[in-house]
Amino acid sequence: MDLGIRGRKAIVNGGSAGLGRGSALALAREGVDLVVSARGEERLQETCREIARETGVTVTPVVADHSSVEGRARILAACPNPDILVLTCSPPPVTGDFRAIEPQDWYDNLAVTLVSPVEFVRATVDGMVARGFGRIVNIGTGAAKFPTEIRILSGAPRAALNNYLVALAKKVARHNVVINNLLPGMHHTAGILEGFNERARVNGTSYDEEVTRFAKDWRIPAGGFGDAEDFGAFCALLCSQQARYVIGQSLVVDGGIGNATF
Ligand SMILES: NC(=O)c1ccc[n+]([C@@H]2O[C@H](COP(=O)([O-])OP(=O)(O)OC[C@H]3O[C@@H](n4cnc5c(N)ncnc54)[C@H](OP(=O)(O)O)[C@@H]3O)[C@@H](O)[C@H]2O)c1
Repeated sequence: MDLGIRGRKAIVNGGSAGLGRGSALALAREGVDLVVSARGEERLQETCREIARETGVTVTPVVADHSSVEGRARILAACPNPDILVLTCSPPPVTGDFRAIEPQDWYDNLAVTLVSPVEFVRATVDGMVARGFGRIVNIGTGAAKFPTEIRILSGAPRAALNNYLVALAKKVARHNVVINNLLPGMHHTAGILEGFNERARVNGTSYDEEVTRFAKDWRIPAGGFGDAEDFGAFCALLCSQQARYVIGQSLVVDGGIGNATF
């Protein structure tokens, strides 16, 4: 299926690895030119080279912390008028006892999880409206919909971001500007690899054994973790011409952990 977005321009924040990378690759396979940001230069350059080599699109790396004012300015200078905006944020820390979370933890975290993506949207959405085409996908977290104590710093602010984006989605939909949220459960990404390799080291097991145990403990119906490229393909679908009538949805992609009747 042709997604009808060949020649469009996209910003993918946090695109050198994981779900951001999967999304960047899927968009590039549809002929979308990319500006991809990350903090670490080496991995970013390598990812951009790989995507450009495979797909032939223009891929511009921008070394920047997208949660800082200066980093945002650098990314937007490289692509002031994106047709497509894919938002990720640095994975927030896992927390223990909720009583131990201090006000400063909230302020620091809100700057990353809420204010930064909001500022990217504010800077780009009017141009999308004026040009009569725009697609924004927020890669959030399943914890926004299914709260759990260890993911409070991730789920709570991103539930607020979902709320903001759905409100906006309804305001701009008539201009063919489409905003949606993708809420991941567990997927094989660089971040997950690092965390689960550490568990394996501590427990004297392997990455695969830790994943299998987690999938069993959390009763993941699909029996394991998702794939970042599959996830990216869904992101590209939400950026397609065909997504025109899909407005302000929050699609959980979690192998069935959080399933309910509706
Ligand atoms: N993977 C999962 O199973 C899962 C589950 C639920 C939610 N999520 C959410 O999905 C998002 C992506 O997670 P992931 O697992 O794909 O992460 P990942 O594999 O660690 O990749 C994160 C990417 O974002 C970049 N990045 C991180 N902080 C950044 C910053 N401040 N500025 C610019 N780039 C930044 C990283 O590069 P640098 O480090 O070089 O900057 C990397 O390219 C996160 O918000 C996470 O909370 C993921």
